[in-house]
Amino acid sequence: MIMAFSTGSVGHPIAAILLLGLAVTASAQLSATFYDASCPSALATIKSAVTAAVNNEPRMGASLLRLHFHDCFVQGCDASVLLNDTASFTGEQTAFPNRNSIRGLNVIDNVKAQVEAVCAQTVSCADILTVAARDSIVALGGPSYTVPLGRRDSTTASLSEANRDLPPPNSDLADLVGNFSRKGLSVTDMVALSGAHTIGQAACLNFRSRIYGDSNIAPAYAASLQANCPQSAPNGDGTLAPLDVSTPNSFDNAYYSNLLSQQGLLHSDQQLFNGGSTDALVNTYSSNAAQFSSDFAAAMVNMGNIGVLTGAQGEIRLNCGKVN
Ligand code: HEM
Ligand SMILES: *[C@@H]1O[C@H](CO)[C@@H](O)[C@H](O)[C@H]1NC(C)=O
Ligand SMILES: *[C@@H]1O[C@H](CO)[C@@H](O)[C@H](O)[C@H]1NC(C)=O
Repeated sequence: MIMAFSTGSVGHPIAAILLLGLAVTASAQLSATFYDASCPSALATIKSAVTAAVNNEPRMGASLLRLHFHDCFVQGCDASVLLNDTASFTGEQTAFPNRNSIRGLNVIDNVKAQVEAVCAQTVSCADILTVAARDSIVALGGPSYTVPLGRRDSTTASLSEANRDLPPPNSDLADLVGNFSRKGLSVTDMVALSGAHTIGQAACLNFRSRIYGDSNIAPAYAASLQANCPQSAPNGDGTLAPLDVSTPNSFDNAYYSNLLSQQGLLHSDQQLFNGGSTDALVNTYSSNAAQFSSDFAAAMVNMGNIGVLTGAQGEIRLNCGKVN
């Protein structure tokens, strides 16, 4: 028994057990002060670059937020979504939920270059993406919150996991609850995080079946969308419509008021207010912006903790698009 612990340079079994305990603790914990000593200007550098990109194009804030979601749900928040295909793996960018739809990769590359210029190979792409999501929300008027840091970057990505783990827009409520629960997120997290659809756009192919087939959609709203999204695919597949019909570039709680008037753009959006168990929470968020803000911020931190690599796991990529 004792021999089993006496491995490597750690000669004493008790020392080995203590080290093991430390390693477990370190891998379970992110810290808001992670870069305070190693890269004190990291957060300010990310914020100024992200704010400039969002001011230049408001939708970019939405695109960066979605990129973080798509990172975290596939292999955890490890920047796997940023990896280009290689000879040894096909990455996530051509998965159905990402193809022709994820945006902002070049913005992240630019932020990474600025961060590398102040602190070489110190700040992970996974942390940059997490902080960029928060800074995007703030730039569009949403709540600020402290981001736990210390994620490391994966050395691989997975097309099949991206196709399996990102919920599609035709999902029903039970599927959404199940899909988020598999990632350790509660129903409250799921409803609050869906409020991210208060910004950004979706393409016709993702809401066509809703505007021609669903009964829980306001008729005038459906008609206005049908004008630019013909019933016969692939005509108009790529035509965009705002996810929040009332205030598309403001991070507010209007998404939930839209649901009350049957103006959710995606089938999955309107599922949150369709006579089921989440109606009450949608009602609450529509009338209580402060409650939404605090639940959303807490849920973002929860989502940002999914499957993170820490300590000696993974690596700090030099270029977010490829493994070192
Ligand atoms: C609940 C399950 C979800 C489904 C089914 C879903 C689905 C979608 C779809 C289909 C689009 C449009 C993509 C396109 O047409 O290009 C979209 C856009 C978006 N999603 Fe989600 N989403 C979900 C949850 C989330 C979460 C949790 C977040 C972030 C916390 C998020 C953030 C966004 C943003 C910001 C956009 C707009 C992106 C842009 O304009 O570039 N979504 N989502
Ligand atoms: C979501 O849930 C549905 C129903 O439980 C399941 O069939 C589907 O595979 C799940 N998808 C994801 C992306 O987890
Ligand atoms: C990843 O692919 C994009 C698009 O082809 C390209 O612009 C970018 O330079 C690539 N990044 C790396 C690190 O190869």
